[in-house]
Amino acid sequence: MTRDTFIHLTIFVHKYRKSSFKSVPLSLMDTSITMVDLRAQYLRYKSEIDTAIASVLQSTDFIEGEAVRLFSHNLSQYLGVKHVITCANGTDALMLALLSLKLQPADEIIVPSFTFAAPAETSAFLGLTPVFADVYPDTFCIDPQSIIRNITSRTKAIIPVHLFGQCANMDAIMDIAAQHNLFVIEDTAQAFGASFNGKKAGTIGHIGCTSFFPSKNLGCYGDGGAVFTNDDTLAESIRLFAHHGSRTKYLHETVGINSRLDTLQAAILNVKLPYLDEWNNTRRIIASKYNEALSSFLKCPVTGAHSTHIFHQYTVPLQNGEVRGVLQERLKNNGIASTIYYPFPLNEQQTYKNISKCADGCPVTKDICSCVLSLPIYPELSDEKIDRIIKVIA
Ligand SMILES: Cc1ncc(COP(=O)(O)O)c(C=O)c1O
Repeated sequence: MTRDTFIHLTIFVHKYRKSSFKSVPLSLMDTSITMVDLRAQYLRYKSEIDTAIASVLQSTDFIEGEAVRLFSHNLSQYLGVKHVITCANGTDALMLALLSLKLQPADEIIVPSFTFAAPAETSAFLGLTPVFADVYPDTFCIDPQSIIRNITSRTKAIIPVHLFGQCANMDAIMDIAAQHNLFVIEDTAQAFGASFNGKKAGTIGHIGCTSFFPSKNLGCYGDGGAVFTNDDTLAESIRLFAHHGSRTKYLHETVGINSRLDTLQAAILNVKLPYLDEWNNTRRIIASKYNEALSSFLKCPVTGAHSTHIFHQYTVPLQNGEVRGVLQERLKNNGIASTIYYPFPLNEQQTYKNISKCADGCPVTKDICSCVLSLPIYPELSDEKIDRIIKVIA
């Protein structure tokens, strides 16, 4: 390459870089709208969070440190529940809850067909049989009538998921459980802070479970979870299973697992917990802005009787999959994220087909999987961004 060609090439590359940065990509990068914005939240509370993290680093008390004890206490105060056992993630929380019930292989656990897989997955993993119940077409939470259709002599527990931010119909579910002598494990991973008849989600059944996955309404900066209960015996059993089946060091009363919330994560959660209700309220305000602008041409989210909604997701059913595809593409072309929660019914998935049961085929789940779309919602979503999303949809 001659010196002149080199200079020309250098100028060309420089110009190309400048022009390509000047045109679409940078402007899109600056204005794109994601499903959540964890960075915006971190920057808002940066000094408090940095201080909390620094204090754990100083103490080097990384496992079961003071922040974990404090967080368990804070959580039990917030929920009004006697026992909180923190653990490594929401899936472990469900696993620990199931272990504590001391069930027999092939005992049946009724779980929703329209949700994240964890309730079915943990049941199957423990050698139990997940039994899929259908959901309501409007709130998307488990349908008590479908629960009844799925009860057999082997049914031992129900895991209602409080989906997208609102509670399942806990009055009906607790009545069914009492009639058939079943345990109820509430999965509040998506509805932490919501309430039903004034009681916090997760404190109505025998055991509540939650996840502190970063994008949850109360999320840490890695994995985290908790189990809660008012029952002393179940609490004791959950604690035992979470700590290698051991109460006295190196003496194992049962085969357990190691599931702990890191001290660093607990320190972050201690900073965040006091803001949770405010954030949930902001999510409600954003949802009502969406509702107001979109209700004339979309089926906006419906909140069930007796429950509050904390809008972990803002999910709408569209006319069909084709309309959903077109809308998703249009949003994408305008730099706006959207996600399908959930595209595949759990009861129809190959992995679960041979190891699960399902009395009614879950037709509602099949229908909503084909047409739902979730839009961005998080407390830091600005009015300007909300307006842009609404304009693109309209
Ligand atoms: C309803 C539900 N249950 C359980 C879990 C599992 O939580 P984790 O990811 O912390 O294991 C999730 C996670 O997304 C969830 O949405």
